[in-house]
Amino acid sequence: MGVMSPTKQPEGRSDRTVPAERVGARHVAIIMDGNGRWAKQRGMPRVFGHRAGVNALKRTVEGAPDLGVEWMTVFGFSTENWTRPAAEVAELMGILKNYLRSDLARMEREGVRLRVIGRRNGLDAEVLDIIAHAEARTRHNDRFHLQVAFNYGGRADIADAARRYAEAVVEGREDLKGFDEAGFERYLSTAHGPPPDLIVRTSGEQRISNFLLWEAAYAELVFQDVLWPDYGPEYLGAAIEEFRRRDRRYGGAEADGVLATG
Ligand code: IPE
Ligand code: IPE
Ligand code: MG
Repeated sequence: MGVMSPTKQPEGRSDRTVPAERVGARHVAIIMDGNGRWAKQRGMPRVFGHRAGVNALKRTVEGAPDLGVEWMTVFGFSTENWTRPAAEVAELMGILKNYLRSDLARMEREGVRLRVIGRRNGLDAEVLDIIAHAEARTRHNDRFHLQVAFNYGGRADIADAARRYAEAVVEGREDLKGFDEAGFERYLSTAHGPPPDLIVRTSGEQRISNFLLWEAAYAELVFQDVLWPDYGPEYLGAAIEEFRRRDRRYGGAEADGVLATG
């Protein structure tokens, strides 16, 4: 969205000549769910599942480029996850730090550009530092874009964008007469990239849980019955196969060629 055009523009059906099975998902967003249940099945504390979840994330990110994916956005911590026990919240903060530290060299080497989207407010100084460092070190990469949604909520992101837009109007940097969807979405934290083509949720739950609300408008949704720590490229490949079978209509319709009579 924003400056980058989506995989397919919503107008018309002009790309009908492209066989549907060849259209892959350029941007995949994943709600990585089921860590707690995975740990519980093993009689272990929830944090054990979160740690195993990091390995699933690494496997999935590594396998994604070969599946034709260029952008991946993963939901790591929601604005509502602060309501979890303090020890679990602290563990999730620690996991983000470890992940960004331990995977940074690989990301740099393999051309991955890392961005963290979500509210910076509420994150401690050390976390902010590590995020800034990882983003700066990978800023020149463009082979693969990895976005980690952390302290992210779709509603919060829209509200924050609205606030920044209002401030810009008050300061004379925006003119309300020109207000429209394309102008507004430049203020979202996802403005630098395309919207997701495919949103995957693991663990069998079938809801969005406040992820990418604006950006999900025409994403295909795939729900997979696998707990996140067991995930990997083979499941991502299956989700993309399912995506390829979908017919994205964007609200449009082709002329049916049948004359209405009588
Ligand atoms: C997803 O796993 C990770 C986060 C939300 C941080 P959960 O922790 O939600 O695991 P379940 O859903 O309780 O199994
Ligand atoms: C969504 O999962 C958030 C993340 C995966 C980070 P939750 O487990 O928090 O969502 P609910 O509570 O099942 O809706
Ligand atoms: Mg959950």
